[in-house]
Amino acid sequence: MGSLTSIYVFACVFLSILWNNIQPTVENKITANYSGHLLTEVPKNIPVHTHILDLSHNSISEITNFRFTSLSDLQVLNLSHNLITELDFSAFMFNQDLEYLDLSHNNIWTAYCQLLARLRHLDLSFNKFTVLPICQEFGIMFHLEYLGLSAMMIRRSDFRYVAHLQLDTVFLTLEDFSLYEPLSLTALNTRSLHIVFATNQNFNFSLLYDGMSTSEKLKIVNLRYTLSHKDFPSPSLELQKKIKATDLMLDTVDLEWTVILQIFLLVWDSSVEHLTVRNLIFRGPVVELTEYKHVPLLRSLEQLLSLGSSMKALTLERVRNKLYYFNQEILYRQFSEMNIDSLTIHDACMPHMLCPKKPSSFQYINFSRNALTDELFQNCDTLANLKILILHRNKFESLSKVSFMTSRMKSLRYLDMSSNLLRNSRAEGRCQWADSLAELDLSSNQLTEAVFECLPANINKVDLQNNQIANVPKGITELHSLQELNLASNRLADLPGCRAFTGLEILNIERNLILTPSADFFETCPSVKELQAGQNPFKCSCELQDFLRLERQSGGKLSGWPEAYVCKYPEDLSGTQLKDFHLTELACNTTLLLVTALLLTLVLVAVVAFLCIYLDVPWYVRMLWQWTQTKRRAWHDCPEERETALQFHAFISYSERDSLWVKNELIPNLEKGEGCIQLCQHERNFIPGKSIVENIINCIEKSYKSIFVLSPNFVQSEWCHYELYFAHHRLFSENSNSLILILLEPIPSYVIPARYHKLKALMAKRTYLEWPKERSKHALFWANLRAAVNIKLPTSFETDEEQSDVTSTSSITQRLIK
Ligand SMILES: *[C@@H]1O[C@H](CO)[C@@H](O)[C@H](O)[C@H]1NC(C)=O
Ligand SMILES: *[C@@H]1O[C@H](CO)[C@@H](O)[C@H](O)[C@H]1NC(C)=O
Ligand SMILES: *[C@@H]1O[C@H](CO)[C@@H](O)[C@H](O)[C@H]1NC(C)=O
Ligand SMILES: *[C@@H]1O[C@H](CO)[C@@H](O)[C@H](O)[C@H]1NC(C)=O
Repeated sequence: MGSLTSIYVFACVFLSILWNNIQPTVENKITANYSGHLLTEVPKNIPVHTHILDLSHNSISEITNFRFTSLSDLQVLNLSHNLITELDFSAFMFNQDLEYLDLSHNNIWTAYCQLLARLRHLDLSFNKFTVLPICQEFGIMFHLEYLGLSAMMIRRSDFRYVAHLQLDTVFLTLEDFSLYEPLSLTALNTRSLHIVFATNQNFNFSLLYDGMSTSEKLKIVNLRYTLSHKDFPSPSLELQKKIKATDLMLDTVDLEWTVILQIFLLVWDSSVEHLTVRNLIFRGPVVELTEYKHVPLLRSLEQLLSLGSSMKALTLERVRNKLYYFNQEILYRQFSEMNIDSLTIHDACMPHMLCPKKPSSFQYINFSRNALTDELFQNCDTLANLKILILHRNKFESLSKVSFMTSRMKSLRYLDMSSNLLRNSRAEGRCQWADSLAELDLSSNQLTEAVFECLPANINKVDLQNNQIANVPKGITELHSLQELNLASNRLADLPGCRAFTGLEILNIERNLILTPSADFFETCPSVKELQAGQNPFKCSCELQDFLRLERQSGGKLSGWPEAYVCKYPEDLSGTQLKDFHLTELACNTTLLLVTALLLTLVLVAVVAFLCIYLDVPWYVRMLWQWTQTKRRAWHDCPEERETALQFHAFISYSERDSLWVKNELIPNLEKGEGCIQLCQHERNFIPGKSIVENIINCIEKSYKSIFVLSPNFVQSEWCHYELYFAHHRLFSENSNSLILILLEPIPSYVIPARYHKLKALMAKRTYLEWPKERSKHALFWANLRAAVNIKLPTSFETDEEQSDVTSTSSITQRLIK
């Protein structure tokens, strides 16, 4: 079991390694990449159909015959950066398709030859060969384009086997170099020659001169010469005539400046059109200005430079000066007077440059990464041919001065002032630019919105990236030709609009402080084809909805959508892409919200009105309220005193005319149900021999509640019996709740005679129960009424009924009479 698992794991790992190492490339070529795999020998399991095999950066010391034999499709083999010492080309005998073979950076000192007919690229550079490893077989490798070699000596006969081949590039690395037989190189036939000297050795100037006579493109790396310039031989005139190089690049040059001048003079007077010197250090001895006239070299330089030359472009990159005293003025004069098209002096700590004395041929000047200031080319009329001026990374401060500098450059089309210290204020005064200026790079300065007062009128493209611009002021002069404006990485809070740039096509406003971009942008800027507005701190709220709508309507004009457009605020939405941010229409539209609220209120009112009118809800509410009040009171009251005398639940008083209702409705309904309600009617419980009033009072006294069935009839015929009684009896005082009034029919107030104070008061308090006309309400009415009269009557009253009856009645009667 365990072994099975381990086999499975092993197989997985193996497959994944295989998968990582062998992948078909775009052209369907199988690549096996073992680069940096710490291999000490060529692996055995290389897939048979590999086209590209990378074995570089390993520790392989031997290439045996049979490791590559099976790889019949091999086209590219990279064995660079290994430890191979002996090279036997027969190892690749069966790789008939092999085109690229890189064996550079090994320790090879000896090679055994074999024809590799299809080889195009063979690199043996950076090895330990003493003599150039050029076999006779190379002479019939007609596909050979690139040949990399290394050697410690070069003799005239060494190139004889390849002299007839037309090569593209020959790359020579010469470490521990000890011998050069002059004119050896010239036997070579190549377009491009690349020589690398050792860093710790004097270079052989013969190689420089011969190299220039050998190929059109020459690159030499590591030119050091520690001997005195007097030992540095000038080339013969004969040699100078043979020079055919047009492109010369010298990289890592550390020479006495007189030697440099000597080389420069040679080049100036040759066929070279493009000279590039990179990583240049020039050293002493010190030359005083007074000495200057006595140095014939300098004088000849001055004369020479004013003459014509094949030279078109001079590029100096990264120049360092190891002289303690050096009159740069002379040098500036030489440079400025040069009769060439293109001059680049890059990263040279140059603080100044002179205006040419006579009309200059410069079309391209690149002085990037220096220490130039506002004084450059002020009032300089002679740069009328200049089309491109690059002053990136200098120390310019005044935009207005820069504009005046250009105003005399009649052909200037492109100006790069990026990464300077430019500021501008209105106090600085006006600006005057070259009319021809079409493109202006002012990025990475300290410019504010006042810059818009100082832009060339005919400009097409302005880069104002990474400045301090907070807004685009209104009322600036119109830049009708402006097509492209870059305002990225500024401090703008909104899209600028196009009042002043009617022709604007591309606007970049990334990385500003825009929370909610105004949505009318494309309306005010109809010609804009591309808007880059990403990476702003968008605030995802209702206002942003308009901008999102704008995106949908713009038809893909918003560049970088959706990845670059991400909410920053509010916190909980931070990181959400704008395309995923949605708010409902209702949440954002105030009018809609108000209308909705209004509609809801109206519906509510309508429902309430419907309930009131058709279902009489208020009535039910009132009834329920009364019912609960009754219940509450019953709970709190403890009518102990009276209870002892109570014999009935309720006394009912009504008009004779309403007796039908009382007998058919009230009594049956009250008496039914559980509570077995006892009612006192003065007709039924009439005690003969007493007056009506006495009988009534008797009934009231013995009843828990008194129910009066109110109707106009009752008021006119019956109420008179009670009014006086109520006026005096404590039981029916204001707070009394023994009274239940049932309003059988509405009683207009004029029906109630003025003397019935008590009735008026009771009616005003509206504490009566209304008899509902609708049958559906009757149940609740009766329930309410029953609840009001329901009480547990004492059971022992029957015995002393008569006595108490008499005493109480008489006492009341007496009081009534009083
Ligand atoms: C092989 O891999 C290395 C990095 O591991 C890479 O630099 C190299 O380009 C690769 N070689 C090929 C031929 O793809
Ligand atoms: C071989 O590998 C080295 C180092 O990775 C690389 O510089 C070189 O270009 C490669 N050569 C070929 C022919 O792919
Ligand atoms: C440089 O070339 C000259 C021939 O011009 C030769 O005499 C001299 O030995 C060479 N120097 C070295 C270091 O090979
Ligand atoms: C200016 O020269 C430097 C050095 O050669 C180069 O890297 C840079 O690209 C040039 N700038 C332009 C805008 O051509």
